[in-house]
Amino acid sequence: MPHDDVETARLAFREGMAKLAAAVSIVTTDGPGGLAGFTASAVCSVTDTPPTLIVCLNRSSSAAAIFDRNRSLCVNTLASGREALSRLFGGSTPQQERFAAGEWLPGRTGAPRLKDAIVSFDCEVESSVESGTHRVLFCRVLDIAHGQEEEALIYFRRRYHRIR
Ligand SMILES: Cc1cc2nc3c(=O)[nH]c(=O)nc-3n(C[C@H](O)[C@H](O)[C@H](O)COP(=O)(O)O)c2cc1C
Repeated sequence: MPHDDVETARLAFREGMAKLAAAVSIVTTDGPGGLAGFTASAVCSVTDTPPTLIVCLNRSSSAAAIFDRNRSLCVNTLASGREALSRLFGGSTPQQERFAAGEWLPGRTGAPRLKDAIVSFDCEVESSVESGTHRVLFCRVLDIAHGQEEEALIYFRRRYHRIR
């Protein structure tokens, strides 16, 4: 495909995806590869038998090599008041500085669990598939922690919203 067509398709896709409302999560990991976390909207259930979810991770992000090495992660779904944390973990802030915000507890795999997340899924990464710029991580859920928060943070039309 000529470059102009690739770029047109890319922008049209992004425009379409901006209208797909999504929950916002901070995906974390800790282990031999180090500590890392990033903001993710590309998190999706695969099956409940066995409990499995997918996370799509940009291979060029600073966190990618760390997740590769650790093979475990925690998906922390954000409550409505957590926009600033979403921005912090979605920007180019050094990994250590990101974790200075928020209260974190060690999850079963060692990945940091956000204390006031709506729900946290502690997982082992079972396998992964590469697709273009991203890697799709298939994650077996080992532990689930339910928080007290009731309102969720939603990303829709490139802005944050709250939903109860
Ligand atoms: C609302 C929102 C959703 C995002 N969703 C994803 C995602 O699903 N997968 C991903 O790899 N990056 C996603 N990002 C971007 C990463 O959080 C961001 O690229 C990363 O934290 C910064 O990478 P760096 O450490 O290389 O600077 C999202 C960012 C925001 C603000």
